[in-house]
Amino acid sequence: LTEKDLAEEHLLVTAGPTREPFDPVRFITNYSSGKMGYAIATMARRRGATVTLISGPTQLPVPSGVRFLSVSSAREMRDAVMTTLPEATVVIKAAAVADYRPAVRQEQKMKKKDEDLTLKLERNPDIIQEIGKQKENRILVGFAMESEHLVEHAIGKMVAKNMDFIVANDVTKQGAGFQGDTNIITILDREGEMEELPLMDKMAAAGIILDKVREIRDTRRNH
Ligand code: C5P
Repeated sequence: LTEKDLAEEHLLVTAGPTREPFDPVRFITNYSSGKMGYAIATMARRRGATVTLISGPTQLPVPSGVRFLSVSSAREMRDAVMTTLPEATVVIKAAAVADYRPAVRQEQKMKKKDEDLTLKLERNPDIIQEIGKQKENRILVGFAMESEHLVEHAIGKMVAKNMDFIVANDVTKQGAGFQGDTNIITILDREGEMEELPLMDKMAAAGIILDKVREIRDTRRNH
């Protein structure tokens, strides 16, 4: 029997990739499977939390007992997140949000021409940064996927975006990151603590991330 230690929390979890279209049949995306975010949503629900899962397109079944909002682009994800935010006590942003989108979305399918084609990209909104600016008493958790200088980049993001802790993974390591059922994570927090974890399945990693959420919540309660 799982302890319902998160029964008083409302977790807002984002997961999966976003799709950024440039015509009716084409888009830019990334290899995110959504597995890490879905594992967090599943485990949080088992631990008694109210969970809203906001997800980009994935192949995964919706975890039972979870409120589910399906989105496609980063801008749709932003709108869904901002609508849900007032109710959330914990926000975990596991989605791989596209940083850029095509500046123009053509109404009709683009025709092939003989010349090369240049696509202009523009910046997407940084959702977690926006949440960080209106964080209030919430616990805010982000992810950092890096191919170099993992720890320095992760700490920089955590501070710049006002997160309570950040979960970092090195995409160049076997068994870590997108697609697979396992991950190798390092948890970094605002107290300067660093916890380097071994390879484990994403459900186990989700459990450890939620333990960290509970620890921060309990520390705040006792102050
Ligand atoms: O893209 P970046 O590596 O900075 O992402 C770090 C964190 O910020 C992740 O938790 C991701 O979900 C979040 N993010 C976001 N909105 C974006 C880009 C990233 O919320 N546009």
